[in-house]
Amino acid sequence: MAKKIAIANTKGGIGKTSTAIALTDGLRQKKKKTLLIDADPNSTSSTQVYRAVTDNVATLTDVLYDGLPAQDAIQHLEYGDIIPVDPELTLADTKIAADANRFYHLKDACDALEDMYDYIVIDCPPGNGVILGNVLSYVDEVIIPITCDSFGLQCLDSFKDIMDTYKKRINEKLHICGVLITMYEGRQALTRDLEENTIPEELKYLNTTLFNTRIRRSVRLKESQLFSMPVMEYAKNSTVALDYQAFTEEVIRRCKRK
Ligand SMILES: Nc1ncnc2c1ncn2[C@@H]1O[C@H](COP(=O)(O)OP(=O)(O)O)[C@@H](O)[C@H]1O
Ligand SMILES: [Mg+2]
Repeated sequence: MAKKIAIANTKGGIGKTSTAIALTDGLRQKKKKTLLIDADPNSTSSTQVYRAVTDNVATLTDVLYDGLPAQDAIQHLEYGDIIPVDPELTLADTKIAADANRFYHLKDACDALEDMYDYIVIDCPPGNGVILGNVLSYVDEVIIPITCDSFGLQCLDSFKDIMDTYKKRINEKLHICGVLITMYEGRQALTRDLEENTIPEELKYLNTTLFNTRIRRSVRLKESQLFSMPVMEYAKNSTVALDYQAFTEEVIRRCKRK
């Protein structure tokens, strides 16, 4: 049975895509059979890092709009298996009918993946639309990236409400695996109050814990994206690659405990 993990937060620019790519790569390096599903119509994971083809081939759009079995949209690329996305997914909120199946398209299409992979990681779009709904109806675990500043914590309360609704109505196994601080710049006077007071309060409210690893801000990460490589492949001894490696190990431990 595959463990299905969404990297999600309704806020954008918070490290979701960077984390999804690094976690997928970290799991693959640990010899886990891993698939990345790019569910963000911006297609950063698909095109910028995995260099997936998205024109005139099956993508996540065909899976969600036309019921294509997910295995038929997988591309086997240099850095692993991916279901890419194409920009047409921006229309999902209007293209996916508002019927009883609205939030089940992904789940229904992914049956065959259960025995093909150990982990399925999903890079989510920002906002709260039908794509996030399909993801939250399907996955077991959610990892929530945040940044250690007041903007970075902004959407947590509303995201918790969204998660609670899906857990209660659609997917009772939905669980927050943990909250991950990304783009960390060390303990500073400016962020001390957030780290000591605000974040612990939020964690209590979310009923979860912080990953021990904080992902440090590093130019190496941006360079790796510029050169279309996961950061652990581009600069494996950089601080950010070592952080993502330690985070991957934490994720494996947390998933085993459940
Ligand atoms: N650890 C990091 N160090 C430096 N830059 C980072 C780091 N993590 C993310 N970024 C940069 O921050 C921006 C937003 O990250 P991204 O992963 O695309 O967030 P999201 O998917 O939530 O929108 C990108 O330009 C990315 O390169
Ligand atoms: Mg993104």
